[in-house]
Amino acid sequence: MEHITFRPMTQADADAVAALEAQCFAMPWSREDFWRETRNELAEYIVGEIDGQVVAYAGAWVSFDQAEVMHVAVASELRGQGVGTLLFGALIESVKRRGAKSITLEVRPSNVAAIKLYESFGLRSVGRRKGYYLDNGEDALIMWNTKL
Ligand SMILES: CC(C)(COP(=O)(O)OP(=O)(O)OC[C@H]1O[C@@H](n2cnc3c(N)ncnc32)[C@H](O)[C@@H]1OP(=O)(O)O)[C@@H](O)C(=O)NCCC(=O)NCCS
Repeated sequence: MEHITFRPMTQADADAVAALEAQCFAMPWSREDFWRETRNELAEYIVGEIDGQVVAYAGAWVSFDQAEVMHVAVASELRGQGVGTLLFGALIESVKRRGAKSITLEVRPSNVAAIKLYESFGLRSVGRRKGYYLDNGEDALIMWNTKL
């Protein structure tokens, strides 16, 4: 997947990102939500493009030296080919440039691919939030890496 490139998300990406979001998540954010993120000073969002088409996106909020991941997603037809690894690596580089020294996120225990991806970047499960996901009442695993 060497022809994928990453750049900061802009307002013009909101439609494409919201379309991917709807494909990926049970409780998707809207285009307005992503549009708002481009104006949120805490937010650091990137998109991955192939031939001018947005195929992946990721975002985090950076507060002081801590980054909290809000989104990580790859178009369904491109999964399992290393795009998620490139994307998450690019997100980590972006939040480190803004001073983040630790990164945290919540993930469904059933989301094996995502958990493997995060573990490969040194995140470890440190606890659970009971019934965190409103669509099916699933717990969330809380993962951290405190040594970015
Ligand atoms: C999670 C996600 C971003 C991973 O993207 P991807 O492009 O498939 O990731 P990669 O190809 O780089 O693979 C990353 C790791 O996951 C593993 N993996 C990928 N698909 C897998 C699957 N279906 N089952 C088990 N492991 C899988 C890979 O083996 C790899 O681990 P490794 O480095 O130990 O080999 C992607 O599946 C996705 O967009 N899912 C829907 C949205 C989502 O759930 N986001 C996370 C919310 S917290």
